[in-house]
Amino acid sequence: MFPDPSGTMGIMAASKKKKSLFRCRVCGQEESKWLGRCPACGEWNTFEEETPDSISVKPSSSTPGKSGKKNRPIPLQEIQSGPENRFNTGFSEINQVLGGGLMRGSAVLLGGEPGIGKSTLMLQAAAALQSEGPILYVSGEESPGQIKQRTERLQLPAAPIHLLCETRTEAIENERNRLEPGMIIIDSVQTLHSDSLGAVPGTVNQIKYGGHELITWAKEHGAALFLIAHVTKGGTIAGPKVIEHMVDTVLYFEQGRQELRILRAAKNRFGSVDEIGLFRMEEKGLIQVTDPARLFLEEREGDIPAGIAVAPIYEGSRVLMVEIQALTVPAKSGVSRVSSDRIDASRVSRIAAVLEKHMNLQFSSQDLYVNVAGGIRLSEVGTELPLAMALYSARTGLTVPANTAIAGEVTLAGEVRTISHLARRKKTAREMGFPRFIAPREIRSVGEAVQSIFGTK
Ligand code: TYD
Ligand code: MG
Repeated sequence: MFPDPSGTMGIMAASKKKKSLFRCRVCGQEESKWLGRCPACGEWNTFEEETPDSISVKPSSSTPGKSGKKNRPIPLQEIQSGPENRFNTGFSEINQVLGGGLMRGSAVLLGGEPGIGKSTLMLQAAAALQSEGPILYVSGEESPGQIKQRTERLQLPAAPIHLLCETRTEAIENERNRLEPGMIIIDSVQTLHSDSLGAVPGTVNQIKYGGHELITWAKEHGAALFLIAHVTKGGTIAGPKVIEHMVDTVLYFEQGRQELRILRAAKNRFGSVDEIGLFRMEEKGLIQVTDPARLFLEEREGDIPAGIAVAPIYEGSRVLMVEIQALTVPAKSGVSRVSSDRIDASRVSRIAAVLEKHMNLQFSSQDLYVNVAGGIRLSEVGTELPLAMALYSARTGLTVPANTAIAGEVTLAGEVRTISHLARRKKTAREMGFPRFIAPREIRSVGEAVQSIFGTK
């Protein structure tokens, strides 16, 4: 057993008989009894028993004694903030998503499906990071030879990266304490493993324990910590979901069309979560896409088919033109189903219901399919009116003219509500070849939009 400077074991021994808890290894769902199937994520045989003691993590090292520093209140005026507290990652797309660079003393969880390019992104960012002090890259998944090969393939500039292929939390801590890095990358949290918590890596306890120690150290030492995590197909960060609340920022790295990769913040204590970063995975690694206005439009010649509407979407600080695609077919099972990965399915159902009620079009007998060209996920309310027009077009076979862009929020009463940044959206739409802009102010209801676009009521 490893030395226990913090006395956690003592705490464990002291409080013995407490009610135990079962937690899903995949999504972190808690249950009071063991279940064969997790009601939250639907996975089988994922529940593990936890006694409340076993999930106690080490007491915060701000407790006097460990670091030797006393923690005292600091006058607000004396606390530093601003750009001097941030590292430049060398990638404007990453800086933007982080809220203007990488905060010192912060912890970032980077989730994504296996093979999406998380290790590549982190290695490139580490090599480009403008910071003083060494960088510690801990890999529990690849050998030093493999990683060296990758850096050669990526033709990365010489950077003070120290590679540690290790999964034992205690060994990582030792090397980290010796090196005192300014940036630490853990690839991945699922490989973290402490002997004191049993033999299996990747359990909720292992991830929590290792994560907590690393996060605490990074905060105390002003280092930036990246925790890489694999996510399952469903999109939730498997297991590591339990440390989402412990980190400052949660980023997802997602697949767009073909080689396109989208970096998105799901949580950010140091910036907004509206910003996205765009990359292309190429021969020599990830290349930033800094001019993406047309990236999410299909290139086509001739007529536009029915079921398509183009929308200027406000993503963080820029406007993207996106193509929303809808298809309706008679419901196979007799019950209407919605298939929509890129726009929330409940939003699609709601907009279809509004059209059914106010435009006298039947959707409840139909299966609805909605997609967004380029594979970007849209959560903005401004997508509602273009979505309504795409659905209307799909159901009626009438097409939206090729010169038309649409934006607006739709209420249950069928009104069109105004949205932010209308002027900028209109400007980008015009620049991108959509001189006609159907948006709030010009039209007040879904009916008026239909009239204006399709010439019918
Ligand atoms: P990787 O970073 O290993 O993914 P993750 O860490 O998220 O599992 O990237 C894996 C894929 O990226 C792999 O299939 C090959 C591809 N790739 C390139 O296309 N070009 C490159 O320069 C590199 C390094 C990887
Ligand atoms: Mg990897």
